[in-house]
Amino acid sequence: MIEIINVSKQYRVDGVGIPAITNINLRIEEGEVFGIIGASGAGKSTLIRTLNLLERPDGGEIRVDGKDITRFSSKELQNYRRKAGMIFQHFNLIKAKTVAENVRYPLKLTGEYSEAEMDRRVAELLDLVELAEQRDKYPAQLSGGQKQRVGIARALANHPRLLLCDEATSALDPQTTQSILRLLRDINRRFGLTIVLITHEMDVIRAVCDRVAVLDKGVVIEHGLVTEVLLHPRHPVTRAMVRESHHEDGTDLVGHLGLPGPLLRLTFLGEATYQPVLERISRSLDVSFNILEGVIGRIKDTPYGQLTVQVIGTDPDVARVEEAFAHQSIHCEVLAR
Ligand SMILES: Nc1ncnc2c1ncn2[C@@H]1O[C@H](COP(=O)(O)OP(=O)(O)OP(=O)(O)O)[C@@H](O)[C@H]1O
Ligand SMILES: [Mg+2]
Repeated sequence: MIEIINVSKQYRVDGVGIPAITNINLRIEEGEVFGIIGASGAGKSTLIRTLNLLERPDGGEIRVDGKDITRFSSKELQNYRRKAGMIFQHFNLIKAKTVAENVRYPLKLTGEYSEAEMDRRVAELLDLVELAEQRDKYPAQLSGGQKQRVGIARALANHPRLLLCDEATSALDPQTTQSILRLLRDINRRFGLTIVLITHEMDVIRAVCDRVAVLDKGVVIEHGLVTEVLLHPRHPVTRAMVRESHHEDGTDLVGHLGLPGPLLRLTFLGEATYQPVLERISRSLDVSFNILEGVIGRIKDTPYGQLTVQVIGTDPDVARVEEAFAHQSIHCEVLAR
């Protein structure tokens, strides 16, 4: 478990301090996939790099299993870093080494393994990331997705408990992104490895994360379960990000379209997504629903749907409609009465 307590970091440029992250407080549980999302310059890389002290915070503590890593001796830090693998947006592979040599490198650095042990581990890792056939190629001969697989194999070499991912899919096309995200999910499940990833894409958060923190101008503006934050964002910045990820244009249906109410936003989660709830309520209360807008999808393994509907009836009783949805465990927000 990682506790980030009051962590701040400023960069000094020409003698002037520029705050990158300010008073960050977060807790990352063992075995979860924790996402940090934010716009460019929000402080994501700075924050994730404090977790292995590639950036040293100016203030605050980073406790891993109760121990503050900012107070580690260089020997302790070296051991800790071995158990905290990292992958990068631009892969950071060694150009003059083959795939197998790149993966072998972190094993060699420990000085603890025999040649045979290293051979075995490298083969195991290349199987895991499905690159056994590319083992003697050089990075320049690989696609972006393959390079990132090498990065992942290398990061996992010393059996880390934590994997830090700095925009690991930003340089990849959508399909390759999905395959890398599937691999990360698989690794998380099979080895119970804790993953912290940063991204500026909501789709990445939706695909793999259990919980998320939203970073804006160096400050955490919102955090919680992905289902909660994505379906009921509170902060305007988060709302705008979620809307954008649904390719919505941000039209304010109530204000701009001047639609007569009542308007409801319904959120279906899990099992409820498959139930014909609208029809049921429509029959029992003798109202109709005009669907104005909607998204359906999946958050990691949980199906969800979110609809904006207009309630139509001779004299629709919004309170009764609300009650009926609540009864079916559907979250119902009244946008206009
Ligand atoms: N080495 C540095 N020296 C000075 N300022 C820096 C340095 N690195 C980052 N910054 C500044 O700190 C702030 C946070 O940067 P950071 O790289 O953490 O953001 P980010 O969220 O990772 O952005 P991006 O999505 O563009 O990678 C920015 O204002 C950036 O300009
Ligand atoms: Mg960055």
